[in-house]
Amino acid sequence: MALVVVKDLRKVYKTGEILYEAVKGMSFEIEEGDMFMILGPSGSGKTTVLNCLSGIDDPTSGSILIDGVDLAKLSDDEKTKFRANNMGFVFQAYNLINVLTAKENVALPLLARGWSEKRAYEKAVEVLKAHGLEHIINYFPSQISGGERQRVAVSRALAGDPKIIWADEPTGALDTKTSFMVMDFMKSLNEKNHQTFVIVTHDDKIVKYATAVLRIDSGKIVSFERMKNPIKAANF
Ligand SMILES: Nc1ncnc2c1ncn2[C@@H]1O[C@H](COP(=O)(O)OP(=O)(O)OP(=O)(O)O)[C@@H](O)[C@H]1O
Ligand SMILES: [Mg+2]
Repeated sequence: MALVVVKDLRKVYKTGEILYEAVKGMSFEIEEGDMFMILGPSGSGKTTVLNCLSGIDDPTSGSILIDGVDLAKLSDDEKTKFRANNMGFVFQAYNLINVLTAKENVALPLLARGWSEKRAYEKAVEVLKAHGLEHIINYFPSQISGGERQRVAVSRALAGDPKIIWADEPTGALDTKTSFMVMDFMKSLNEKNHQTFVIVTHDDKIVKYATAVLRIDSGKIVSFERMKNPIKAANF
């Protein structure tokens, strides 16, 4: 069975009296080990879909099964636990916490899972080292480059070895060279650990990393394609 099964997903936003249908019935499947990309123009519903899949937001109707689990049927506590144990998040806008060092940022979701400080910090250092970031372990986000920041964010998302990593515009604020570096980094983890990445983007130049591409517009699926020869990670 596919890792994520989405059936007739709909999302209607209500602002005062105004209803807006941002997602108008989408069905698709994400396989385990996919580097799955959701592409579409601004306002097409990409973030809305990702937020529904990851349980940040509730769909208005339709069903989403993750590893056979319907998040909508879980209590808030169960949902929080399921997300903490199975998912990692890379969000451009809420990237890193500025008053915490790289190590502390990476340790944060582990502490939220109930790990002891000692274990969480040890794991954070181990993950940062594995990702070639040992030189900035005790630096604050303002003291490191954009590409390093993004790699710390990916390290944080991956520290707990989640099954699925959700990423919203992970290369949105980066120049071309740094974008490829971050993508190579994620792709290498995808290849090594068989972790599943679901990436929302409107950056066509990173599509070559995808194993599957879902194109959407105005809340609807335009096309879905499984890629035959996604490129391999180059640098890590
Ligand atoms: N909380 C909200 N309340 C009302 N409307 C919303 C809300 N969030 C998003 N929308 C609307 O739903 C539509 C889809 O928004 P969404 O953020 O999913 O687009 P997107 O494809 O991620 O765009 P971008 O590429 O600009 O990030 C947009 O028209 C947006 O204005
Ligand atoms: Mg968006």
